[in-house]
Amino acid sequence: MSLTTIPTIQVEKVTTSRIQEVDFDNLVFGSVFTDHMFECDFVDGEWQKPTIKPYGPLEIYPSAKVFHYGQAVFEGMKAYKDDAGKVFMFRPVDNLKRINKSSHRMAIPEFPEALFFDAMHQLLEMDREWIKPGLGNSLYIRPFVIATQNGVSASPSNRYKFMIILSPVQAYYQGEVKVIIAENFSRAADGGVGYAKAAGNYGAQFYPTNLAKEKGFQQVIWTDANEHKYLEEAGTMNVFFRVNDTLLTAPTNDRILDGITRKSVIALAEKAGIDVEVRRVTVDEIVVAAKNGSLKEIFGAGTAAVISPVSAFSYKDETYGLQDQKDSFAKRFKKELTHIQHNLIADPFEWRYVVC
Ligand code: COI
Repeated sequence: MSLTTIPTIQVEKVTTSRIQEVDFDNLVFGSVFTDHMFECDFVDGEWQKPTIKPYGPLEIYPSAKVFHYGQAVFEGMKAYKDDAGKVFMFRPVDNLKRINKSSHRMAIPEFPEALFFDAMHQLLEMDREWIKPGLGNSLYIRPFVIATQNGVSASPSNRYKFMIILSPVQAYYQGEVKVIIAENFSRAADGGVGYAKAAGNYGAQFYPTNLAKEKGFQQVIWTDANEHKYLEEAGTMNVFFRVNDTLLTAPTNDRILDGITRKSVIALAEKAGIDVEVRRVTVDEIVVAAKNGSLKEIFGAGTAAVISPVSAFSYKDETYGLQDQKDSFAKRFKKELTHIQHNLIADPFEWRYVVC
C-alpha cells in the first residue's frame, strides 16, 4: 500500500526512562520492552493518527474481533548497533512485504511502506540507547496488527491497530536444542495460512510443543499434514539438514514461512560454493542418514533464533544424536550473518540497512 502523503507521527516521550532498571547481561528473550511504542489505527478505510508514545497498556473492548477470531499478524525483525554506535536493520523491506502478505491472507488492510519506515526510524532513534553493541546483543522488533472492531459477528473487522514494540534481546535458546519430528500433529495444511505470520499459527503449536518439552525436547519439526512424510519447519525457525557436505531445506510454499534468515543462509551457502538442495526432504532419508553417519548437522534459522544448531532429534521414540562438526556449517553461517548484521564485515548482498 502506498500513500500520497504520509501522516505526521505525533510523539509523546517518556518523562523518565526505565533503562537503568534493566540488566542487559541477563535478558530473557522478549520479556523487557523499551520506553516507547508505535501505534496507528485503521479507521474509515485509512490508517490514521500514527503516534509514538510511552510503552504501556492498551484500552480495548472485550468484544474486539482479535479476541474472538484471532485476526492478527506479526513480524520479527532486529536492529543492531556497531562499535561506532551506528544502528542497522537487516533486510527490513522483506519484513514489511511479509507482514503485508500475511495481512492480505487474513483480510487485514496492508500497511503503507513509507509510514512503516518513518515509524521505524523515529522509534529506533528515540530508543537507541536500548540497543547494545557487541555480537549476541540486538533489539528485537515486533510489529503486529490486531482487529479492533467491537462485535462478535464472524466477519473481518473494519478497524485495526498496527503497533511496533521493541525488546532488547540476547540468545533465543539458552543451551542445546533437541527436537521431535511430528508424527501426528500438524502445523499447516495446503491452502491454509502456514506461510503467514498469523498469530494462531504459533498458538496452535504450544500444546504439541509442551508435550515435546515434557519429554526433554525444546521444539517440534513439523511434517506435512497429509502423510507426515516430509520435513517442513520448526516452531520458531526454518530448518536445514547437512548430509555429508550438501545442505538440504524444504522449499517454501503455502504451508512454510518464507524465512528471511532462511533465504540469507541459502545465499551465503551458494556464495561459498556449498551444494544446496531446496527440495522436499523426507523423514526417512534423514533417519537413514543419521543411522549411516552421513547426517552431519541439523540447524534452525530464524530472526529470533538466528542459527540454532540441533543437538539431537527424536522420531518414533528413537533419539539420534548429532556430533559437533569441526567445519560446522551452522557456526560458519551464524558468524557470517551476525558479522554482516553488526557491520563487522563487508555486506556484498546489501542486506544491511542504516537507520541512524
Ligand atoms: C522470529 O524469529 O521473529 C519469530 O517469529 C519467532 C518468534 C515466534 C519468536
